[in-house]
Amino acid sequence: MAYENIRLEKDGPIAVLTVDRPKALNALNSATFHEMDDALRSLKDDTRALIVTGGGDKAFVAGADIAEMVTITAAQAREFSALGHHVFQSLENLPIPTIAAVNGFALGGGLELALGCDLIYASEKAKLGLPEVTLGVIPGFGGTQRLTRLVGRSRAKEMLFTADRIDAARAKEIGLVLDVLPADKLMEHCRAVAAKILKNGPLAVAQAKRVVEYGADQDLRSANELERQGFAVLFGSEDQREGMAAFLAKRPAAFQGK
Ligand code: CAA
Repeated sequence: MAYENIRLEKDGPIAVLTVDRPKALNALNSATFHEMDDALRSLKDDTRALIVTGGGDKAFVAGADIAEMVTITAAQAREFSALGHHVFQSLENLPIPTIAAVNGFALGGGLELALGCDLIYASEKAKLGLPEVTLGVIPGFGGTQRLTRLVGRSRAKEMLFTADRIDAARAKEIGLVLDVLPADKLMEHCRAVAAKILKNGPLAVAQAKRVVEYGADQDLRSANELERQGFAVLFGSEDQREGMAAFLAKRPAAFQGK
């Protein structure tokens, strides 16, 4: 599929997905979602980390496309929301680490896209918020739920009700972004984090992601059971034997993802 609204670039084992409609500050319309869906499906086993960012120098993603939404009916809104949920859920379900490089405005659907990633880093220029109530609606791509799980109900409600755009430093303070970088260092930082993760056993990283994600919605006893199963499963892997043998032999591990 040829892409008009996104770019998918491979840099060895790291893929970079750029939402690239700078004229509309990378707003997410249906066509963009379909392209993102295709791009996520197209990732092969040799891609071991994904960075998501925005094209141009102003925005990560400024939200769902308001020009597309302005005339839609409730039934069409349900479909549009389902499409956004599907794509962000696919992103969340990828068995590889995903990193949002928030390079500018991450508003509404843009913040929801970042929240679908495992790790969120922001540039000093970033502004984050959920302005949907200013448009008479609420977030429709998981923002009410993922933001609440990340920063707690009270801060999430504050952002949802006030529609305030917060800067990157404040976003870090409330635990929404992990770190704030100078704009020209953001991608470099995200690549370095990805590279550090890539040195570790890929099956173990995937399992860590799985048990955190699935465990977060369960009671502690069930979640710990999930961890126990994940831990045990890894002992059937070559990577476990390699990782531990390498430690004992005082050499770096050569993981195969098997
Ligand atoms: N949808 C469609 N077009 C958008 C857009 C969006 N979300 N955000 C920006 N644009 C367009 C503008 O209409 C403008 O287009 P024109 O040049 O053709 O007029 C262009 O991008 C540049 O934007 P501005 O001139 O507004 O740029 P600015 O620097 O003055 O302001 C901004 C930047 C503060 C991000 C402002 O554009 C803005 O407030 N955008 C909307 C943010 C928003 O409300 N997002 C939530 C959308 S609803 C949502 O996401 C629902 C959901 O969860 C499903």
